[in-house]
Amino acid sequence: MKKMVIRGGRALKGTVRTGGSKNATLPIMAAALLSDEPSTISGIPMVRDIRTMSELFKILGANAYVDSNMLHVQPDSIKNFSAPYDLVKTMRASIYVLGPLLGKYGKAKVSLPGGCAIGLRPIDLHLMAMKKLGAKIEIKHGYVLASAKKLKGARIVFPKASLGATVNAMLAAVLAQGRTILENASKEPEITECINFLKEMGAKIEGAGTGTITIAGVKKLNGVKKYNVISDRIEAATLIAAAVITKGSVTVENVCTGHLELFFDKLREAGAKFEIKGGSVIVKPYKGRLKAVGITTEPYPGFPTDVQAQWMALMTLAQGDTIIKEKIWENRFMHVPELSRMGADIKIDGNTCIVAGVKKLSGASVMASDLRASAALIIAGLAAEGETEIRRIYHLERGYENLEIKLAGLGANIKLENEDSI
Ligand code: EPZ
Repeated sequence: MKKMVIRGGRALKGTVRTGGSKNATLPIMAAALLSDEPSTISGIPMVRDIRTMSELFKILGANAYVDSNMLHVQPDSIKNFSAPYDLVKTMRASIYVLGPLLGKYGKAKVSLPGGCAIGLRPIDLHLMAMKKLGAKIEIKHGYVLASAKKLKGARIVFPKASLGATVNAMLAAVLAQGRTILENASKEPEITECINFLKEMGAKIEGAGTGTITIAGVKKLNGVKKYNVISDRIEAATLIAAAVITKGSVTVENVCTGHLELFFDKLREAGAKFEIKGGSVIVKPYKGRLKAVGITTEPYPGFPTDVQAQWMALMTLAQGDTIIKEKIWENRFMHVPELSRMGADIKIDGNTCIVAGVKKLSGASVMASDLRASAALIIAGLAAEGETEIRRIYHLERGYENLEIKLAGLGANIKLENEDSI
């Protein structure tokens, strides 16, 4: 097993490029299953979750392979409709195959994902949407068994905006008979991206970026010869936070800046210095300490939960008390005890954290608990005095492509090493 070792205290300098969005690629991959023709998607991140989804496609009988940030999906040979527990438990987004299998082939068997470190993560809204579209759903032996002769368009009102449930509902409804209206649908940029891809496939779908998505079912969808996925807003925010905490001079390229407006507002309020030029964010050094600025995580366009941990890392060194409210996941503060090991002063009260800014962090051995917690510990480690070693860093590989190489390119003293066994 690998651990990440960082010697903190260096101001980052140089230029770095944000890669393609993991959370936009996964729904697009599932959408590609809806055609008999191949699709090719470029600019995708070479991360474990994308490889896991390709593995799942192979189990279904479809061919999918990734080659130098290019993903090829050949979906015409699907003959298995079952997503097994061993794979689904490693990546919850496997549930995205439910909608397309049901919509195209009228049957799907997908393992229930089970628990997750950041929260319960139920899939009731996915199943509610499938039922509304006319599917018969049974839960047996830990699996969702879904079947339908032909799905029929319906009005589906989500009690809560869910990215995943909106994806599954859209992917099931595009080949359904008649019109589907999704109310209180997710407005996240990854949904807009999935809609753009579906339109390229020939789907009739409107309302991207609004809470109401309207779909007119079509009989058949085509493959997409070339599609370039949007850049990863969460990776961009992570790189920017790393530059800011070290008082660095860094240009972060290939940023969908429109997707991070609230993050930029908060950074400005905290006193960080940066400029936005086209698709680049130019971070500059500032004097003294940042000001404490609170955040509340909310569905888009609110502050993203996937940047909460990184923001907290940044605020550990700010002047004053920062209030951080997590409103999406009920257990997403596992980075708190680890940041505390590095000298941060943080109290947890339910879904709220109070971070009392300290003057310095000191390197320590810490443990990563999930993808974004890993990123937060790296950000803290870059600013801490001395050496930080992050155990269980394998979480990072799920969603960041070569983050340590990118940061080393900016002058960070950071490397992956083998963990010594005791
Ligand atoms: C996506 O998860 C992302 N994952 C998550 O990123 C991200 O944190 C989350 O959206 C919120 O932005 C992918 O895109 C692969 P939701 P998803 O359904 O779709 C509740 C990362 O680090 N809910 O929008 O699973 C749920 O409990 C990951 O990259 C139900 O109650 O999130 C939560 O409170 C972690 N029932 C809220 O909705 C359901 O059936 C939003 O969840 C589904 C969700």
